[in-house]
Amino acid sequence: MTDLVAFAHGLPKAELHLHLEGTLEPELKFELAARNGIELTEKTVDEVRATYNFHDLTSFLQVYYPAMGVLQTADDFRDLAYAYLKKAASQGTRHAEMFFDPQAHTSRGVPFANVIGGYRRAIVEARAEFGIEGELILCILRDFSAEFAMATLMEALPYKDWIIGLGLDSDERGNPPSKFAAVFARAKAEGFLLTMHCDIDQEGSIENIRQVIEDIQVDRIDHGTNIVENDDLVEAAKARGLGFTTCPISNSFVTEQMKAEEIVSLLRRGLKISVNSDDPAYFGGYIADNYVALAEQAELDIADLAQIARNSFEASWLTPGRRDAYLAEIDAYVAAFTAA
Ligand code: HPA
Ligand code: ZN
Repeated sequence: MTDLVAFAHGLPKAELHLHLEGTLEPELKFELAARNGIELTEKTVDEVRATYNFHDLTSFLQVYYPAMGVLQTADDFRDLAYAYLKKAASQGTRHAEMFFDPQAHTSRGVPFANVIGGYRRAIVEARAEFGIEGELILCILRDFSAEFAMATLMEALPYKDWIIGLGLDSDERGNPPSKFAAVFARAKAEGFLLTMHCDIDQEGSIENIRQVIEDIQVDRIDHGTNIVENDDLVEAAKARGLGFTTCPISNSFVTEQMKAEEIVSLLRRGLKISVNSDDPAYFGGYIADNYVALAEQAELDIADLAQIARNSFEASWLTPGRRDAYLAEIDAYVAAFTAA
């Protein structure tokens, strides 16, 4: 392990862009299929991985949703999140704000309670066992209707204490942020923090980024790297201290490149850029792997990685006291690593 790789793994980090359903590794998929009596088309881990030939967001989503069929009981959701949190803790994640897609499950007959009950149990267990903190962000699937989104928000209200925010994911094409303005306004009124995906190189990327900043008034943006094309929006995001959750390895699957140049340019311009893993079971890299991949591509040093980790806590939804404790942990880690 090089110094930089070791530094990236040990560095205290917050994960802010992680889809729990995107952490379904093929091994667990087989285990859950057997448990639930489901016959899978692919018979080996290699055969499953061979289906991972994505070239854009749509082709990724066409593999991502069908795989979720093995998730049925609360235990299944618990096992998925527990495996992720264990792995994340091993890569230096101290705090994870994790997306989950309830509509991908309720739309095929799985009760909302199974989903959130299982995920919540994993969070409580992982905190006790690995010291990692977890929060849940309910993600709305933007290719379903605004009515289904609102109904899902209503279904979530009894579990409000277990959900920190509302997000928006799935296929952006033809599904702009404005489609969900009323749902996000209601969520805000209920006390949820807001974030939305602005995926890479979409038709209307800039207009969608403008909507999330000016109209929806989100608290954070997921991906959003195309903002680099518009100086006014960069200044507006900076003035508001908006965090951007970038995902370099994911970018290299859904576009031709990691977008390292764009990410680093925004970092140097003072935006709160964090680095995250998105759907690590599909893109083959957890959080430290993403730090390393970006560092290697853009020739970043350990001071840059420490800045990205600081940004991850500053853009997180931790209370100020807990956030500051993690920032102090980073300072101590950097000092000890540099002295060694
Ligand atoms: N973008 C949109 N939808 C998604 C993503 C993403 O990065 N990951 C999982 N669903
Ligand atoms: Zn995502």
